[in-house]
Amino acid sequence: MSAIIEASPLEKLPQEPLPTGDSCVLVIFGASGDLTKRKLVPGLYNLACVGCMNPQFEVLGIGRTPMSTEEFRKKTGESAAKSKDSRDFSESQWEDFEKRLHYMVGDINDPNFYPELRIRLEQMEKNGSSPNHLFYVSTPASVAGPIIEGVGAAGLNRRDHGWTRIVLEKPFGQDLKSAQALNEVVRGVFDEKAVYRIDHYLGKETVQNILVFRFGNSLFEPVWNRNYIDYVEITAAETVGVENRAAFYEETGALRDMVANHLLQLLALTAMEPPVAFDADSVREQKVQVFRSIRPMSVEDAARFTIRGQYGSGVIEGKRVPGYRQEPGVNPNSTTETYAAVEFHIDNWRWAGVPFLIRTGKRLAQPLTQIRVHLKPTPQALFASKSPEVAPNVITVKIQPDEGISIAFDAKRPGTQVRTVTVQADFSYQGSFGSRGPVAYETLLLDSMRGDATLFTRRDEVEAEWSIITPIEEAWAQLPAPDFPNYTAGSEGPASP
Ligand code: BG6
Repeated sequence: MSAIIEASPLEKLPQEPLPTGDSCVLVIFGASGDLTKRKLVPGLYNLACVGCMNPQFEVLGIGRTPMSTEEFRKKTGESAAKSKDSRDFSESQWEDFEKRLHYMVGDINDPNFYPELRIRLEQMEKNGSSPNHLFYVSTPASVAGPIIEGVGAAGLNRRDHGWTRIVLEKPFGQDLKSAQALNEVVRGVFDEKAVYRIDHYLGKETVQNILVFRFGNSLFEPVWNRNYIDYVEITAAETVGVENRAAFYEETGALRDMVANHLLQLLALTAMEPPVAFDADSVREQKVQVFRSIRPMSVEDAARFTIRGQYGSGVIEGKRVPGYRQEPGVNPNSTTETYAAVEFHIDNWRWAGVPFLIRTGKRLAQPLTQIRVHLKPTPQALFASKSPEVAPNVITVKIQPDEGISIAFDAKRPGTQVRTVTVQADFSYQGSFGSRGPVAYETLLLDSMRGDATLFTRRDEVEAEWSIITPIEEAWAQLPAPDFPNYTAGSEGPASP
């Protein structure tokens, strides 16, 4: 049984206005792809609607699909109207916004395309466009290298007037070796300070709040260690399947898609030491230290500390859905995992002996991303004989949906006997602020326009993430293939072996 105690906000705060981005031309490679329609254009549209887009901001979408600028505007407009990320979509505001969108057909694998791109950007500048260029690589990992090389060969990487930056979408490589190779290509063309490797989880308000919760309050930090914490669970459950990304997902799988980046970032923010300052390098330095302290896995460890799963058909929200192997574009004998659970151990003074249980999967029972920090039971079980319900404290950081934080603790149940019950103190973004703030892509797009790299990952950070994940992938390749499918869509995932 549990009761709810609402932690009421001290005052209702209006949402702070967002800053204005620098003027720039955002050049999107992969503009006819899914991410542009679903996340980037809706995010940019929202930024324009709230008035924080520089008047001299434009998009030049690059894609292989032949279409005119008018068709590009129409297509992206239709998707933005449907996207759950577009706030208060209105035709008239879209008509204003779409004037900023342009499209250019181009084969990004063809080196001859890049001089044409340069000419197009020069023409735009002559006609009054910004001299600043923000390149956004939203393509499969395998073509990121050729794009960066092409941009460099055409001399678009450095400007004698205006700035140039590059945003790189995940996945950043497929393993440690390919990430290192890609980083070398990037290093040959761009200064590290101009490189923005995106992990959109870092743009989420609730994720940024982890550091404020930990280091802005003196209440929690003293217990945030192995003396008081029993174990930490980090879960990212989704009800969606692979959607229309079979080709990408088949070669990626849940471990690379979610654990190698988003979940390791959540783990690092939960486990890191306080940074000396809240600036890009100080924060990233501490995260890298966490990654370096994670115990690497041998094949035996991978067999013991990991679980892979793949969904079979089942029922989600009352509707029957196909199994992964029956999804369009998926190999009917695919061994790609759509679920991964890993028990990580952080070998440092603060966390020795505290397991971090990471879990993610597609087509699970409910969408839920959260971090649950389980404290140890009290040293003396004073009330246990009277109250079987007495439970250790749990701090839950709710990343999504229902963004907030809740703390479960025990209280005396009213009555003549001493009986305890678990109650909850809840902080909810919606309740306290009346809104959830900008969505992740808005924050990150705006930061990249303003030159703030705090919420982006650094070269050594990405490589450190792959150093943890690649041994697991390699161990899985050596271990007997699991018997897929091993969980039903709509369930909680595979049973523990
Ligand atoms: C992406 C993954 O990075 O994150 C997707 O490629 C996943 O497979 C998505 O669905 C989840 O993001 P969010 O913000 O919905 O939790």
